[in-house]
Amino acid sequence: MSETVAFIGCGRIARAVVGGLVAAGAAPGSIRGVSRTGAGARALSEEFGVGAAASVREAAAGADVVVLAVHPHETPAVLRSLAGVPAGEGAVLVSLVASCRTEAVTAALPGSAVVRAVPNVAVAARRGVTVLSSGPGCPPGAADTARALFAPLGEVLTVPEDLMETVSALSGAGPALVAHFAQALARAGVAQGLSPDTAAVLAAHAVRGTGALLTGPGATPDAVVEQVASPGGMTEAALRTLDEQGLPRSLRQAVDAAVRLSLGRLLTGAESRSAPL
Ligand SMILES: NC(=O)c1ccc[n+]([C@@H]2O[C@H](COP(=O)([O-])OP(=O)(O)OC[C@H]3O[C@@H](n4cnc5c(N)ncnc54)[C@H](OP(=O)(O)O)[C@@H]3O)[C@@H](O)[C@H]2O)c1
Repeated sequence: MSETVAFIGCGRIARAVVGGLVAAGAAPGSIRGVSRTGAGARALSEEFGVGAAASVREAAAGADVVVLAVHPHETPAVLRSLAGVPAGEGAVLVSLVASCRTEAVTAALPGSAVVRAVPNVAVAARRGVTVLSSGPGCPPGAADTARALFAPLGEVLTVPEDLMETVSALSGAGPALVAHFAQALARAGVAQGLSPDTAAVLAAHAVRGTGALLTGPGATPDAVVEQVASPGGMTEAALRTLDEQGLPRSLRQAVDAAVRLSLGRLLTGAESRSAPL
């Protein structure tokens, strides 16, 4: 990575991305971060040797890529701080902010090249997936820059922006949903007499091994199920119970609820037009 990257917000997802980038060989000196209280930026600096800036302006000035990694309600203040900051030539603003349309960013920072990105925390282990969507009028080179930033951290996909809230619910939240499943699986083993440690290892490896199988060439969930479940056997009995108890419906409802919440607090730019930043 040859660009200078500034992280505005040094919380969970910034830490995952920075950790993945440094593990992939990015020079810590090319990365800097800033956080509201300074604690997050200091922690990132101590852990990965990256720079800690004292202000949003100081972090973003001259950066080739500015990564917004704050919550939606924190975004208007950050965009105000970014207005007029002299970014690097051809600088790209990569927004990880959930529920924040690219127009909301360009309304506050006219002329900026904005790409939305939804990474998941598995980017820390360089086994993540990042979904990109460029804003209208965004130069194609900006999407290439964003793709190059996340490519060393796992898969990179692109979707139209109106699907990004769904992507956040399924993929951004995905590791938490799967970890929740693994925890429930382990607890079921404990209820049957396994020690908590053994059950946790078995559940974690079920997830890890299945992930490897599912991401292999030509793999499908049905093919993996078929590899395990023999007709009339115990896996089939367990799967039938999951279906009868409504696991697919529960997951559908979980994703629906997350998308609803995200759409309910959507920043579109209309807010900044009616109340100037
Ligand atoms: N976590 C994920 O897996 C994930 C995945 C994809 C996208 N996202 C999105 O990424 C964004 C951040 O999520 P997160 O989980 O990383 O949140 P988080 O852990 O709560 O971190 C938020 C960070 O933003 C900083 N911040 C807040 N206001 C600021 C300001 N005015 N100037 C500079 N820094 C400021 C906070 O600093 P202080 O700590 O000092 O307050 C903190 O470092 C959200 O929009 C989220 O939806 C998250």
